[in-house]
Amino acid sequence: MYSEIFSKVYDAFGWNYYPESFAQLLLKWIEEKGITVKNMLDLGCGTGILCSIMQEHGIEAHGMDLSHGMIAMAKEKYPQLRFEQGNMVTWKPEKSYDLVTSTCDALNHILEPEEVKAVFRNVYSYVNPGGYFLFDLLREGEAEECEPVELGELEGKRLQFQIRHPQEGFVTLQTDLYEGEQLVNTEKIQERIYSSEWIMEELRRAGFSDVTCTDQLLEGHEEHAATWFVIAKK
Ligand SMILES: C[S@@+](CC[C@H](N)C(=O)[O-])C[C@H]1O[C@@H](n2cnc3c(N)ncnc32)[C@H](O)[C@@H]1O
Repeated sequence: MYSEIFSKVYDAFGWNYYPESFAQLLLKWIEEKGITVKNMLDLGCGTGILCSIMQEHGIEAHGMDLSHGMIAMAKEKYPQLRFEQGNMVTWKPEKSYDLVTSTCDALNHILEPEEVKAVFRNVYSYVNPGGYFLFDLLREGEAEECEPVELGELEGKRLQFQIRHPQEGFVTLQTDLYEGEQLVNTEKIQERIYSSEWIMEELRRAGFSDVTCTDQLLEGHEEHAATWFVIAKK
């Protein structure tokens, strides 16, 4: 999952869009809430885009990701920032944070409910009191099954993308990378859909006091309207 070869083409084939636009939304959310965020940690940080934008806005931003390929890309692109490889289910940072984020379905990549609960307990242990855990979640119906879609061509490479539902509540995202007519890499990414009710209940059980779920992080901003945003305050 998220091999080195896929991590290298992730931004180039357009997946940079999500963290770039989410960063703008997050900055506005922080401003509207009037909260102070001195530092943040992004779980499943991918190629590091969200961290880099937040750091440019004066927030010390660290990232972690399960994929060695993603972490290598993040470090190559932003050598001045701190990125670490690990599994968010068990990995613990050395310090605590005012804000912990996880975006673009990273939480849905965790297929076992017990492991999602472990992430919540883990994050609770390193969010500062009064701090926030903010993440997005796939909404049922958001990832419709589709035939392979061409994502474009770049330096002789082209990427095809397809969504499948192998069983109720699960989604498989398949990307095929071609060089000319030759298939050079296939990634199958499995995701699980969780109900927002279950997620909120488990966050409360983990200790978060104020938990909300919304389809619009900021009123009137519909850019990510197909996604659930979950906001949990410690
Ligand atoms: C769809 S990508 C999103 C990357 C980035 N957040 C973005 O917005 O571009 C999901 C990321 O979650 C990471 N991931 C999946 N399971 C993880 C886990 N258990 N611990 C840490 N990262 C994980 C993947 O390696 C991948 O980089």
